[in-house]
Amino acid sequence: MSYHRITLTVNGTAEVVDVPANMTMMMMLREKLGLTGTKNGCTAGECGACTVLWNGEPVNSCMVLAVECDGTEITTIEGLAQDAQIDPIQEAMIEEGGVQCGFCTPGMIISIKALLNRNPDPSDYEIRDALVGNLCRCTGYVRIFAAVKKAAHKINQAKPVAGELVN
Ligand code: FES
Ligand code: FES
Repeated sequence: MSYHRITLTVNGTAEVVDVPANMTMMMMLREKLGLTGTKNGCTAGECGACTVLWNGEPVNSCMVLAVECDGTEITTIEGLAQDAQIDPIQEAMIEEGGVQCGFCTPGMIISIKALLNRNPDPSDYEIRDALVGNLCRCTGYVRIFAAVKKAAHKINQAKPVAGELVN
């Protein structure tokens, strides 16, 4: 098996990693970088548990080869907290009880992050459409949808109003 040296940025940190040619992005994150928040649910692109942001777009990391990540940027669930403060989506998931076993949760939160980045006020249909690739065996989705709406509210409330002075 041939190895390849790749350089990439993960959660804002520059990384240099030697990866076998057949290693997936998911296994690189988990086994080479210790970022086990990215879950291995199916290894087949079906469950969404391994979702990360790749150059800002959500992707099933089990469906991408690590060598393809050379020169790119990845954000995992570990990269969402800022200054020891969890992301508003994580807060909302906790407050609305959108987590049970938690296995789907990192991938679900990353997909919600991608949705709210591009559409800060999504409709019910748009929320369902954004999460269609993230399977949850536990929650029935209702509390997750409530968490998306609450997170959107939190994020929109935190934005400065036009004309408001920001220190
Ligand atoms: S582990 Fe990647 S989609 Fe299920
Ligand atoms: S909380 Fe268990 S799979 Fe979603």
